[in-house]
Amino acid sequence: MKDKLIIFDTTLRDGEQSPGASMTKDEKLRIAKALEKMRVDIIEAGFPIASQGDFEAVKAVAEMVTESTVCGLARALDKDIDRAAEALKPAKSSRIHTFLATSPIHMREKLRMEPDQVVEHAVRAVKRARNYTDNVEFSPEDAGRSEFDFLCRVIEATIDAGATTINIPDTVGYNLPQYFGDLIGKLIENIPNSDKAVFSVHCHNDLGLAVGNSLAAVLNGARQVECTINGLGERAGNAALEEVVMTVRTRRDIFSCDTDLDTTQIMHCSRLVSTITGFPVQPNKAIVGANAFAHESGIHQDGVLKSRETYEIMRAEDVGWNANRMVLGKHSGRNAFRTRLEELGITFDKEEDLNAAFSSFKDLADKKHEIFDDDLQALVSDTIQEGANDWIKLISLKASIETGEIPKAEITLSIDGVEKRANAEGGGPVDATFKAIESLINSGCNLQLYSVNNITTGTDSQGEVTVRIDREGRIVNGLGADTDIVTASAKAYINALNKVFSESERAHPQV
Ligand code: KIV
Ligand code: ZN
Repeated sequence: MKDKLIIFDTTLRDGEQSPGASMTKDEKLRIAKALEKMRVDIIEAGFPIASQGDFEAVKAVAEMVTESTVCGLARALDKDIDRAAEALKPAKSSRIHTFLATSPIHMREKLRMEPDQVVEHAVRAVKRARNYTDNVEFSPEDAGRSEFDFLCRVIEATIDAGATTINIPDTVGYNLPQYFGDLIGKLIENIPNSDKAVFSVHCHNDLGLAVGNSLAAVLNGARQVECTINGLGERAGNAALEEVVMTVRTRRDIFSCDTDLDTTQIMHCSRLVSTITGFPVQPNKAIVGANAFAHESGIHQDGVLKSRETYEIMRAEDVGWNANRMVLGKHSGRNAFRTRLEELGITFDKEEDLNAAFSSFKDLADKKHEIFDDDLQALVSDTIQEGANDWIKLISLKASIETGEIPKAEITLSIDGVEKRANAEGGGPVDATFKAIESLINSGCNLQLYSVNNITTGTDSQGEVTVRIDREGRIVNGLGADTDIVTASAKAYINALNKVFSESERAHPQV
């Protein structure tokens, strides 16, 4: 019998800390549903004290999820812990995750606390969290740069105080696999009460070693890994869930533990997170990149045709590739549409939202013969993005290009309910469209990123556009999808503008 390796997904918390990746409550719910379906053990849904929006999102995830434990993050402060407990109240199974830094630089420069005070605060926080739940995780933040003896002291004290999981974060991604693995092994060996808690790791990818460090820790006794879909996360990101899970499974000859995950859901989760956050997956990304199972060299192709194992260590279908079945077309009805969305984990609270999505589906089916699951995901994101309360709405767009002529755009927007029209010229039709929008809005935003991806293959594929803008330091992503990429671009830009000016849109969770 193998040990169980607990998968703690923090896409909705640390993943959301990627600049521009902030998610709405509905988006978090869609991702949480997909994670639950994949049988992730623990879903860290957010940081409830960070904002009212994050509180509501954690509460909504706690109300909806029944198969996974729902976790909320809290600093080692009474008000944070109380807030997390409040948000998690509806959960069938909940965990409070509290943290306090233990490295000399963090204690001295950030906390301005003496080591004794840090121990005292950590113990107090764990005890307070234990009043609400018997499932409490403590993280000595920046453990990867903490002094070993002090780390042992804090961990022993917090286990005594009731922590059931001790998470060792390499907060700044500074560690190397061999040393980090040794650290975990030595902590477990030296801390007298280490058998009373599960040891976990949380590695950042600043040196590209997050997965390597996490796996080295597992080989040395860690039995929980904190990770995110597509490796999303603060700065260079966190350990990628799909890489950790598939390494442990593929190298079962080496690992004495395994996860309970349904790995065939990996591609679906990857695409969903990428669509919602607007962070595209690089083609050569392990497991989920477009080229992860593609063979270009003739020698490789020949080998795979003769025997798949010559060049493939995993089966593409085991991670959900090729599961993108053609599902619906022009003649599909509303029930078939709703049923397929439910199979993809998408439900609508309001009938009018389903109607809006179905009407967009019919428009798309007129333009595109075959509608794939990825088209549906993009279409739903697009429908949800276009909120009924949007300040700016796209009414119509005419963009023209002609060889030797200057590209032009004419756009009509509804701004606060009033229709306004503008014309502009630009370097290309997208540039002209953005200039026309700006001539009406004068947003004062800087465009940080503009990217176009085709959702499926073929020239009739929908283009999915991501636009990242910042205004006075506030960064947001806008998304738009359409078979016409100029229209998709206009939708994405308008979506970003609506977000950047929206009161309810949350700031970065740890600001
Ligand atoms: O990176 C980190 O240290 C964290 C903690 C809150 C666990 O995200
Ligand atoms: Zn982190």
